[in-house]
Amino acid sequence: MTGADDNFDPYEHAEEAAATLAARSGVAAHDVAVILGSGWAPAADALGPPSMEMAMADLGGRAASVAGHSGTVRSVARGEGRALVFVGRVHAYEGHPLHAVVHAVRTALAAGCRTVVLTNAAGGINPTYRVGQAVLISDHLNLTGRSPLSGPAPPEPHGPRFVDLTDLYSASLRAQVAVAAASRGLPPGGPATLAEGVYAGLPGPHYETPAEIRMLRTLGADLVGMSTVHEAIAARHGGAAVLGISLVTNAAAGVTGEALDHAEVVAAGTAATADLGRLLAVAVDVAAAR
Ligand code: HPA
Repeated sequence: MTGADDNFDPYEHAEEAAATLAARSGVAAHDVAVILGSGWAPAADALGPPSMEMAMADLGGRAASVAGHSGTVRSVARGEGRALVFVGRVHAYEGHPLHAVVHAVRTALAAGCRTVVLTNAAGGINPTYRVGQAVLISDHLNLTGRSPLSGPAPPEPHGPRFVDLTDLYSASLRAQVAVAAASRGLPPGGPATLAEGVYAGLPGPHYETPAEIRMLRTLGADLVGMSTVHEAIAARHGGAAVLGISLVTNAAAGVTGEALDHAEVVAAGTAATADLGRLLAVAVDVAAAR
């Protein structure tokens, strides 16, 4: 099914994908899902060797068209836990409907994941941020004007579409990750704890104007990007705890006066690979122990 017909049920589509995943991996249930955004793919190996890797297209996912998004999913054992690692995502700006954008998250939920770790590349609006720094997302501004829960009411046993987002990015998960990260020397270079910030999700795919960045700063945003917000909502709707981590790949438009480009975004991830990999391992270990 592609989602083009009127009877398409994205929840059933995710159940089918989870069944395929279980059959291919030989793993009945996974605990934690990780979605790797722009710049994060090289860090995937830090989680350990996958026992299974397959194309998202074989799980009914759309093919990714953006550099740095390979479009595969891995099953990785870590200690007592089992992680599903999505290497890349599809974005609404590629022209996909939102049910396709959140298909990986819904598949992970159907596969048993109770924690979803969403990573992304973001422009830094907060002037204290440095390129290459990881920031825990404390909250978001969904400025896309859209919701993955629009459309027919979710079928039983899925919860109602009016989802409480008061604690969208779990405060307790953030606190646990910050403590565990500090004990493993993260962030590097000092006793500071990981920074937190509000992520503004815009439709893209163009970058913002300096005037838009000034507006976002006034609205309370610290980070700006083109993903994550819809996946976070879908994950919360499915009852999962959400951890969001942004890699600051550039100063947002107008902050330094420098021009922005996607190659710089991917390169910032490659430069930070070792630290990002260690942080991902911390996040998965904390999530699996909950
Ligand atoms: N703006 C929007 N999305 C982004 C940026 C940015 O500056 N950097 C990485 N993703």
